[in-house]
Amino acid sequence: MRREAPVRFDERRETWDVFRYEDVNRVLKDHDAFTANRSLEDGESSGNREEGMPMLQTMITTDPPEQIRLREFVNERFQPGSIREYQPRVKELTKDLLDDLEDEEQFDFADEFAAPLPVIVIAELLGIPADRRDQFKEWSDALVARPADDTQAEMQRVQQERHQAQQEMGGYFAKLLAERQGGADDDLITLAANTEGLSRGEKIGFCMLLLLAGNITTTNLLTNAIWSLEEQELTDAVRTGEINHNQAIEEVLRYRSPIQSLKRIAVADVELNGRHIQAGDVVTLWLGAANRDSETFDSPEEFRPERKPNRHIAFGTGVHFCLGAHLARMEADVALKQLLDRFERLDADLSDIRPLSGLYGLESLPCEVS
Ligand code: HEM
Repeated sequence: MRREAPVRFDERRETWDVFRYEDVNRVLKDHDAFTANRSLEDGESSGNREEGMPMLQTMITTDPPEQIRLREFVNERFQPGSIREYQPRVKELTKDLLDDLEDEEQFDFADEFAAPLPVIVIAELLGIPADRRDQFKEWSDALVARPADDTQAEMQRVQQERHQAQQEMGGYFAKLLAERQGGADDDLITLAANTEGLSRGEKIGFCMLLLLAGNITTTNLLTNAIWSLEEQELTDAVRTGEINHNQAIEEVLRYRSPIQSLKRIAVADVELNGRHIQAGDVVTLWLGAANRDSETFDSPEEFRPERKPNRHIAFGTGVHFCLGAHLARMEADVALKQLLDRFERLDADLSDIRPLSGLYGLESLPCEVS
């Protein structure tokens, strides 16, 4: 598809599909011609546009200068220097999770390790008390839950649960934001509470966005890492350091990108790779395909951790470049190191691989360990 129809219109989904690395890059960087504001899209319900819920404006659905206003107050806290400061705490949290699995001979890596870790880390950064973590995990699961089938009843059930979780969580964040105003703690809720120039709704939207954007994505990076290393029989080489942890993680991000696609809407008429895109058209940018473009990567279908440079765009690019990229990389690095140090043998069962739809990851990944 990259070669035959690098930019094509899909009548059924009513969207342009963009597959080539250079084209995807160009659209993401041209925020004057392509907006991230999904409310301009007709007829599609976006994650936070449920009935009866006011749309919460966040950095991810706005363009500069709005987007900059909604992001700049927190940028510093996600830069490499700050992330290095969090590292010892992430190590402790990872150790606690692994201690709980110590006596197991078999566990579900996705469910029991890769899913809880990012939720615990972001809950900690936001400053959610530890005794509310279970509730927090329930809410965040409900926010990203997908219907088990496509019956009307099931869709309605999932939507109702999502709506309820959104209401409850919004109320909870509103309460914490009010309590922490004027406080001096260094958690992100206190930071948002004390930031001038943001409305109450924008502060709540920020807290919810952090929870949504960083959890399943990081979970999928972790499961995709074990999946890929086991499949390629490279787990031991990473354990011994023969393959560098960080390079392995970058290659997983390229080879099995946790977010496969992003959307934008054209706000001007634009030529893209010989096709004429009109203002108002929806454009789907296939990050997963761009990350396997042979014009940019040698032997793109091969998993090669030694690749350098690895210019994947799994975290996007341009003004919306992932706020949590350094955090996700650090978490994956700590998790992979500790996991492989703890278990001399880690046999993942790859016989029943069922990738999640939409986001790229696994529903479950049974592992035998010793
Ligand atoms: C944005 C991927 C982890 C917070 C993005 C975007 C991508 C992405 C592709 C760009 C969205 C767009 O252009 O429309 C990933 C992947 C992750 C990950 C693959 C894990 C492997 C995290 C974490 C956080 C986070 C841990 C938590 C803090 C955000 C935020 C944005 C974002 C707030 C919006 C930035 C903006 O619009 O200015 N992420 N992400 N992400 N990500 Fe991540």
